[in-house]
Amino acid sequence: MFGRAIAEFEFSLIAADAPIDRFARGQHAAMSIAEKEGALVFFGKGKCVACHAVAGQSNEMFSDFQMHVIGVPQIAPEFGVGKGNVIFDGLNENEDFGLEQITSDPADRYRFRTSPLRNIALQPAFFHNGAFTRLEDAIQHHLHVFESARNYDPIRAGVAADLTLRLGPIEPVLARLDPLLLDPPSLTPEEFENLVTFVRTGLLDKHAARENLCSLIPDTLPSGMEPLQFEECR
Ligand code: HEC
Repeated sequence: MFGRAIAEFEFSLIAADAPIDRFARGQHAAMSIAEKEGALVFFGKGKCVACHAVAGQSNEMFSDFQMHVIGVPQIAPEFGVGKGNVIFDGLNENEDFGLEQITSDPADRYRFRTSPLRNIALQPAFFHNGAFTRLEDAIQHHLHVFESARNYDPIRAGVAADLTLRLGPIEPVLARLDPLLLDPPSLTPEEFENLVTFVRTGLLDKHAARENLCSLIPDTLPSGMEPLQFEECR
């Protein structure tokens, strides 16, 4: 019963009524022209759907839930008192071996799970380590992986100051890049802009907004203990 109660609660947190869902139910005006054009790039020329899948097991979540190497820059906090509390991988402890940490199989090094993309516009940072803070940069990375990864500058990417000090090596990551990203499509500026719009607003369900989630935090608890404070909800 406890498990079921939690499952019911979790169902109430799913926000999957975005413009694209309303469009799919026949409301053709639910998406703007730019979102529609962007969707055509996402599902067509851009080949995003090859990994950010929607069919079958993906259950319309925009992820194949598989692990891929996509060449994300390796940022690492310094370790120690008042700094990071996780020792990173590799000789200089500035790498994240990804799936290999779980499987102990070196073939899995640098592989990370495809992120679902719903409501991504509400995220403050992108990829497993938050290496990019602008959605445009995260999408551009997929389209020019080598350029993006080799010229990565954490300050320009906008990450927090304590993450700008240590960059892990990128060439060993790029050597394992997923074949799907080796020959990326070349998009016109307009196609790129529409693609970003589709991902940003076409997949956004406004119910996922902060105000709605903050309103779920109770003022008092049956135990009489203090409810947790969420900095985003103050
Ligand atoms: C080879 C598979 C693959 C393809 C093709 C692909 N992606 Fe991704 N994408 C991933 C993986 C894997 C991640 C997560 C990487 C990580 O966390 O380090 C990701 C992450 C993202 C993110 C950041 C998500 C987050 O929550 O931080 C965005 C945005 C994104 N992809 C958009 C796109 C778009 C748009 C396209 C098409 C141009 C695309 N992707 C093509 C595999 C892919």
